[in-house]
Amino acid sequence: MTSVLELGCGNSRLSEGLYNDGITAITCIDLSAVAVEKMQERLLLKGYKEVKVLEADMLDLPFSNDCFDVVIEKATMEVLFVNSGDPWNPQPETVTKVMAMLEGVHRVLKPDGLFISVSFGQPHFRRPFFNAPQFTWSVEWITFGDGFHYFFYILRKGKRSSADEELSQSHDKPLVPTISMFHEELEGEDYIFRTNIDEMD
Ligand SMILES: C[S@@+](CC[C@H](N)C(=O)[O-])C[C@H]1O[C@@H](n2cnc3c(N)ncnc32)[C@H](O)[C@@H]1O
Repeated sequence: MTSVLELGCGNSRLSEGLYNDGITAITCIDLSAVAVEKMQERLLLKGYKEVKVLEADMLDLPFSNDCFDVVIEKATMEVLFVNSGDPWNPQPETVTKVMAMLEGVHRVLKPDGLFISVSFGQPHFRRPFFNAPQFTWSVEWITFGDGFHYFFYILRKGKRSSADEELSQSHDKPLVPTISMFHEELEGEDYIFRTNIDEMD
């Protein structure tokens, strides 16, 4: 049975959607006691009895290693970037919190588990974190939206590719992600030459 952990569930209906798709081993966490209480009430009322909702901090996950098939978050990682300062060079506290979250997610995922992150954070700001060298996952994403984009990141533990490895090794310092190479990548304008004009209307 696929086990799923949802981070920062708030009032989201994501767990109901998963349940209706046949995934019943769901654990939702949120830092807010009020959100947890409301979510528990709603799920019980609708008969989703197996779904667990717990008050917990995603920066300090109270679960053992290698226990979930999937960890998912939707717009929760975003809260860590509030007051992060320059997005190209986030405050050290932001970096520490994001890395604590990701290290926890990586730890609780089973060896071939998936981390799914649904976010407005653009790849050039997320990749330095996702590609940090301590992680064994591969990093892919799908872009949605028209004009205002959001991203569906899929990170597969144990499936790190040589491209992910290269990105990680080109960082200056091994444990702290740096965005500068992605900044250089944009300034270098190579991305313009990779643009396929035929795909534009
Ligand atoms: C922007 S809301 C997103 C809620 C939900 N995922 C959705 O898509 O509607 C962020 C949620 O993350 C929760 N949150 C913030 N910091 C958290 C933390 N450290 N651990 C767990 N949940 C947290 C907040 O209480 C809030 O419910």
